[in-house]
Amino acid sequence: MIVRILTLASFMLIFFATVPPASAADSRELVNLPPKVKDAFLTEMRGNVIKLENILAAIAEGNFKEAADIADIKMGFGHSQLEGMAKQGMSTEEILARKQKMQRMGHGKGMGQGQGMGRYMPESFRALGQNFHQASENLASKARSVGANPTVKDFRSVIGAVEEVTSACASCHQAFRVR
Ligand code: HEC
Repeated sequence: MIVRILTLASFMLIFFATVPPASAADSRELVNLPPKVKDAFLTEMRGNVIKLENILAAIAEGNFKEAADIADIKMGFGHSQLEGMAKQGMSTEEILARKQKMQRMGHGKGMGQGQGMGRYMPESFRALGQNFHQASENLASKARSVGANPTVKDFRSVIGAVEEVTSACASCHQAFRVR
């Protein structure tokens, strides 16, 4: 019994000695946002989880077009504007055609500043946002290129592209926090 208690005590000691206090471990850069902007930002973030979830569900069903459409319209460059078009009732095909046209005219990549939120964000933060949008565009084009009979290789390549998106989420989360 004594031995057990001692063993437990020493485990606890090791545990508390190796886990640093949360605040000391938090070296993420703090971005100060006006309260309304912060709310909108975090709402958008929670939306990101749903988008990711819907992409994975589509891939699990072998519906690569659906996965591509979500990544293209809801997570790629200019997504706020494109999502607005969807809300106004434009079809997916119309929105994708509009996006292509906008990009041909030189709009797109890094032009928008995330619903005007970008002006509150440091440059390095925005750069990580661009990485995320770029990874989403890559995912969309990989998923869109899959033919009618997806192979294991197709699944691997698309899941690999999803992982590049989640890696973009994670690298920003490791670097920044908001207040
Ligand atoms: C450019 C930076 C950036 C990218 C890219 C990013 N996030 Fe975030 N996210 C943040 C920051 C900063 C917070 C606030 C963290 C904090 O203050 O502790 C956050 C918070 C969140 C939250 C918590 C929301 C809440 O209500 O508290 C979720 C969920 C989330 N992100 C999901 C995602 C997902 C999923 C992705 C990728 C598909 C993603 N994020 C991409 C920066 C980013």
